Amino acid sequence: MPRIQFPDGFVWGAATASYQIEGAVHADGRGASIWDTFSHTPGTVLNGDTGDVACDHYHRLDADLDLMVDLGLRAYRFSIAWPRVVPDGTGQVNQAGLDFYDRLVDGLLERGITPFATLYHWDLPQALQDRGGWEHRDIVPAFTEYTQAVVGRLGDRVVRWITHNEPWVVSFLGNYEGVHAPGQTDLGAALSVAHHLLVSHGAAVPVIRSGSPGGEVGITVNLGLGRARTDAPADMEAVRALDGYANRWFLDPLYGKGYPSDMVERFGAAMPAVNDADLDLIATPTDFLGINSYNPSVVRPTAKADNPLGFDPLTADELTAAGYELTAMGWPIVPEAFGQLITRVARDYEVPAIYITENGAAFDDEVVDGRIDDPRRTDFLRRHLAALRVAIDEGAPVRGYFAWSLMDNFEWALGYARRFGLVHVDYETLERTPKASAHWYHDTMADNGFDL
Ligand code: FCB
Repeated sequence: MPRIQFPDGFVWGAATASYQIEGAVHADGRGASIWDTFSHTPGTVLNGDTGDVACDHYHRLDADLDLMVDLGLRAYRFSIAWPRVVPDGTGQVNQAGLDFYDRLVDGLLERGITPFATLYHWDLPQALQDRGGWEHRDIVPAFTEYTQAVVGRLGDRVVRWITHNEPWVVSFLGNYEGVHAPGQTDLGAALSVAHHLLVSHGAAVPVIRSGSPGGEVGITVNLGLGRARTDAPADMEAVRALDGYANRWFLDPLYGKGYPSDMVERFGAAMPAVNDADLDLIATPTDFLGINSYNPSVVRPTAKADNPLGFDPLTADELTAAGYELTAMGWPIVPEAFGQLITRVARDYEVPAIYITENGAAFDDEVVDGRIDDPRRTDFLRRHLAALRVAIDEGAPVRGYFAWSLMDNFEWALGYARRFGLVHVDYETLERTPKASAHWYHDTMADNGFDL
């Protein structure tokens, strides 16, 4: 049996996000976020689910910390809810909201678990959205002000910082495809949002560095390679467009190449004004790149004359017909594409270090006699980690891996209907039960590797 062994010091963890697990939406002075508004708007989230209670992690912090110890986590990636810290988006800092993260961080450190804190994982204060949100340039100083408040309180203990989670999802899924909060379908708006997210990232980097001595900072992007059905030129052109939309639109400016010109051309008049000072700020050097990746995107040339992107993704039925195995999200399972993606990022961009900040899968788990046997999830993790090991062999500077997710949680527009957790959550009782995959992951972390 071949052994997959990771380099010494490899960081092993699991990830979550505030709105997906915390609940307690009115506790201790928290303000409303755009996800409270969105999830309470009929027709936006499957089954009308909201994050009002979620996993109630806010009230179950100590038990969840102990659960992390049982699982054998070495690192934990969580996000901070901006509306708990600055309920109105700007101005008054709510120390009671910060107290929660203070207890979380101390609880992690006492248990020997390294905190990785994400500043923005999508729960924008509604008060800021009411003033234009990410579309408006004023969001940049608002974000640095919020960053200052968080880093001022936690920067003596948290030394791994992520500014944003998945700017593609925030900008395009939320403002062009309309699937996530705030639910707009306006390409120009989405491009402004993307630009301000990136500028705010660059502006926050020095704030984090000065408030967190010895700290390391990065941004997390969601990436996925494009795949075509054939190597016909039109199919390859669709793949290039997908790559521009999903990957290069963010990586190119972050690594000093500016926005990719083929995509600027596609976006045409929707493109916002961009100056050199902004591009310099976006390319502020960082310590690592966080990569979230779940699947490649299989695309074809678009059938819609008014689609500026130039490609359409294949439907789940078409993917199945083409021989792809799918998760409960309808995402194709292609481990080698995950490894190839990491190799490609390391080759094309000057990344000093990479953390896989999310990877995992949703399946229709069943509870049988109080146990959750989820061999497909274990198999998914095993095969993706083996592909990651190949990328490391090829020279990619991968320093760690975080499974998504610690526990089942509010999966955004799909509510509680999709389960990504290593730990099962019973949403009636909120009882947590580690799945079989959690036991496998425990041993993998302990041994820094596994038998394939
Ligand atoms: C990512 C998100 C994360 C989770 C996973 C499944 O896009 O960052 O919050 O929803 O997908």
